[in-house]
Amino acid sequence: MGFIRTCILISTTLAAVYARATPRKATGCNSLASAALDEGYKITGTEDFAAGSVNASGVINKFDLCRVQGTLTYGSGDVPSKNGANTLTWEIYLPTSDYNGRFMVVGNGGYAGYIDEESMMVQLNLGYATAGCDSGHSLAANGNTTYAPFLANKAETEAWIHNSIALTTTVARALATEYYAKAPEYSYYYGCSTGGAQGFALAQYYPDMFDGIYAGSPGNWYSHLVLSFLWNGLHTAGNGYMSQDALNFITNSVVSACDAIDGVIDGLIENPLLCEYNITELECAAGQSSTDADGTVLCLTSAQIEAAEAVYTGPKNLVTGDEIYPGLSLGSENGWIYQETVLYETYTALILKEVVFGNLAYNVSSFNWGTDVSKVATTASPLIDEISTNLSFFQERGGKFIVTQGWADQFNAATWPIQHLKQIQATMGTATADSFFELFMVPGGGHCGSNPEYTHVPGTYDVMDVLAPWVEQGIRPTEMLSETPPDGTNTTRKLCPWPDTAHYVAGDVDDWTSYTCS
Ligand SMILES: *[C@@H]1O[C@H](CO)[C@@H](O)[C@H](O)[C@H]1NC(C)=O
Ligand SMILES: *[C@@H]1O[C@H](CO)[C@@H](O)[C@H](O)[C@H]1NC(C)=O
Ligand SMILES: *[C@@H]1O[C@H](CO)[C@@H](O)[C@H](O)[C@H]1NC(C)=O
Ligand SMILES: *[C@@H]1O[C@H](CO)[C@@H](O)[C@H](O)[C@H]1NC(C)=O
Ligand SMILES: *[C@@H]1O[C@H](CO)[C@@H](O)[C@H](O)[C@H]1NC(C)=O
Ligand SMILES: *[C@@H]1O[C@H](CO)[C@@H](O)[C@H](O)[C@H]1NC(C)=O
Repeated sequence: MGFIRTCILISTTLAAVYARATPRKATGCNSLASAALDEGYKITGTEDFAAGSVNASGVINKFDLCRVQGTLTYGSGDVPSKNGANTLTWEIYLPTSDYNGRFMVVGNGGYAGYIDEESMMVQLNLGYATAGCDSGHSLAANGNTTYAPFLANKAETEAWIHNSIALTTTVARALATEYYAKAPEYSYYYGCSTGGAQGFALAQYYPDMFDGIYAGSPGNWYSHLVLSFLWNGLHTAGNGYMSQDALNFITNSVVSACDAIDGVIDGLIENPLLCEYNITELECAAGQSSTDADGTVLCLTSAQIEAAEAVYTGPKNLVTGDEIYPGLSLGSENGWIYQETVLYETYTALILKEVVFGNLAYNVSSFNWGTDVSKVATTASPLIDEISTNLSFFQERGGKFIVTQGWADQFNAATWPIQHLKQIQATMGTATADSFFELFMVPGGGHCGSNPEYTHVPGTYDVMDVLAPWVEQGIRPTEMLSETPPDGTNTTRKLCPWPDTAHYVAGDVDDWTSYTCS
């Protein structure tokens, strides 16, 4: 059982590393208020908090901490927007005891516009000196899905994904160094979704800043990701619309057809690429109603079949025939309700209106799937994409990069990170790419955790348990533990570095140690 031994070995060495880090003498939180900062940066507050006294959306600080809050004014040459006007708001939590010697910056989700203090607190409670920011704008009307004013401002749009984390890291790392009178031994970044894209931006644009980067469900080809939202939304509108019941009906059918391919019946498809399934088998017979009198879904109409096929295929350039973004995978259907409405209205519409066409009255239904694709490439792509396949600066500095991606992600096409991994391997060479970059696919996994319809799939991925040993001891991860499914059971599963998948060996099928990666 070589794989079990490896895993125990990793845990033991990690524990030893953590135990070695000793608390350092602090210079005092208030003394940071007068720290010399680079131009534009301002400290707005420093304060000590006792353990147990800060509640960040339900996560309470286990250790005493020093909190520093501040701002940065940037992009002054640009026309300031009304809302938040070129101001980055940042925050740092420095543990005064139990500091593990490491620095951790957390990313943002969606349009951001606020600091993810909850994620910061999770990291503080693990002993990290941690920082976060609002990504360079304040989404005062957060949840206003009709207008995101920062997108009308070039510097703010660029800060959002490309620059805000780096701008935060510079000041936060300097203040942590001053506080502990010693630079952090290692610097990590942790983000998912938009935060995953921010992770790719760091490796591409700021390759000397982090030793380890975690990018979950990355939207790093953001301009094309939002075109996939639009494609899916428009193709499932009207008669093509599928209710949540219809979506679950499809997933149940797909899973029962393909669950057993990996030899384990667990309500999951280990590798959807091996699943051969044709949705036309669900089409209603001539004259058959798609639901019974109780509303139970019995079959799909031909319009729904066509809509589902369009989502599996993904957006195509109708002039060149090129793929614009990959389609969604078999087994992910039960998460498509977001694709049918919310995503294109919230993301695509605003990005097309404000960044691409500069016209708030633009009607997304008039998007031309030929000529307008290149317009997106020249306007939005330089501001919001981070898809370089040459990350050699980051790799040569010793940086390590881990991606996770759920096969049943409600937002992101699961095969995009696979495609991007192959592109990086093609540019840098497979051996070089594999020496610093790994992708863990999550069977039944959702967007940054669980797909709510797959309640038995663990939604927490123990990324730092493998990223830290890789960075600090050169131990390349061979597997990753995932745990805590929404159904509250103790099911654990083994995640494997793609193209490896988990293969059952023996024992409890819901216990990750019963599997091996190959
Ligand atoms: C912490 O805040 C959450 C809401 O964000 C609340 O539900 C919870 O009760 C609070 N916990 C304590 C101990 O105050
Ligand atoms: C959203 O923002 C737009 C543009 O400023 C405004 O017209 C609209 O009233 C806002 N909606 C909400 C719900 O705040
Ligand atoms: C599914 O079957 C239909 C009808 O036989 C065929 O036209 C279609 O190409 C098939 N789709 C796939 C993905 O195999
Ligand atoms: C956008 O265009 C579509 C198709 O022409 C039309 O049905 C819809 O009403 C338009 N939406 C708005 C808000 O004008
Ligand atoms: C990657 O970028 C580095 C640094 O700019 C350059 O030296 C190298 O030639 C590039 N590799 C490829 C394959 O383009
Ligand atoms: C999970 O819980 C079941 C039932 O309590 C128990 O039999 C099993 O050993 C547990 N598995 C693990 C991996 O802890």
